[in-house]
Amino acid sequence: MGKHKLLVAVISFGLTWAGIIKAEDQPIEQQLVDAMNKVFGVYPGFRANHAKGIVAEGNFKASPEAAGLSRAALFNGSPIPVTVRFSDATGIPNIPDGSANANPHGMAIKFHLPNGADTDMVINSLKFFPVATGEDFRDLLLALAESPPNAPKPTKFEQFAASHPSVPAAFATVSTPDSFADEEYYSIDAFVFVNATGARQAVRYQMIPERVVHLAAADAAKQPPNFLMDELPERLKHGPVTFHLRAQLATAGDSTKDPTIAWPNDRKSVELGVLTIDKVVADSAEAEKKLLFLPGALTEGIEKSDDPLIDIRDGAYALSFSRRNP
Ligand code: HEM
Repeated sequence: MGKHKLLVAVISFGLTWAGIIKAEDQPIEQQLVDAMNKVFGVYPGFRANHAKGIVAEGNFKASPEAAGLSRAALFNGSPIPVTVRFSDATGIPNIPDGSANANPHGMAIKFHLPNGADTDMVINSLKFFPVATGEDFRDLLLALAESPPNAPKPTKFEQFAASHPSVPAAFATVSTPDSFADEEYYSIDAFVFVNATGARQAVRYQMIPERVVHLAAADAAKQPPNFLMDELPERLKHGPVTFHLRAQLATAGDSTKDPTIAWPNDRKSVELGVLTIDKVVADSAEAEKKLLFLPGALTEGIEKSDDPLIDIRDGAYALSFSRRNP
């Protein structure tokens, strides 16, 4: 049947495209957002993942070393205003902050550059990602959806984890912090810095707090449901919160396209600057609706690596945004 005739059939029989096109024929970005909706449920107006969050503001000031690695305006040393959103994992808007499922916690940053453009970083507290491809992430989510508490053992998720050792290994790297300000966040995906001479260097970001404080799982579970969301504005009443943005530098042979493999700890890490957070925005619930952070929203001097997740994430985030702002 030609495309035109198929369209007529669709209209005359009241069929929908979604009913005709099989799930596996949809773009992977859509399959991923649909799989998230399946695992977490659909909550109109909220993100498909990292639905619960809080929006804050501050600035970033680059170190002198940063400009040697990248010619991006972000690193010119002048204070760059930032909008930051901290979040809990999952698409469940009322997940208790101390739930094990609220790990990894997220930090999304929009740097407002002097030329009026923005550049984003979307990072979380996992040290590496459980899977390396969009298809594997979809399958992980679908396995979770098919593993309710009463599912026969081994559950689909247990089977998936057994055949993908990076899944349990990645989840073992996260635990609940006592504050969004006392957590480390990682870009996981690699990016490429280009400096003034054109030299290229693959990097992964590390956002390091003044101190890291993690709770024992039993203590985390006893915390009030909004303890992380409530603690940040309280803490900011007593002064700003600071993080050190660092770049871990790849050396020859380090994979930039496999986010399941952390680069060795002895790789050089360079301080790129200090991120200072001064205040939570007046109406965070309203502000977060209009915000879209994209890992691939970059600026001249910072480029995507060959990590396939970056483009897939951009597509999935944009789709989630369009669904939450119909
Ligand atoms: C294929 C892999 C991934 C997919 C499909 C995916 C998908 C999503 C989606 C659909 C959202 C909601 C976006 C919105 O409505 O604005 C989201 C949010 C988020 N994701 Fe991912 N994600 C992936 C990997 C990652 C990785 C590797 C990280 C961190 C290194 C990460 C960190 C976050 C954070 C922090 C948010 C919240 C952003 C915000 O505050 O607006 N994700 N993700």
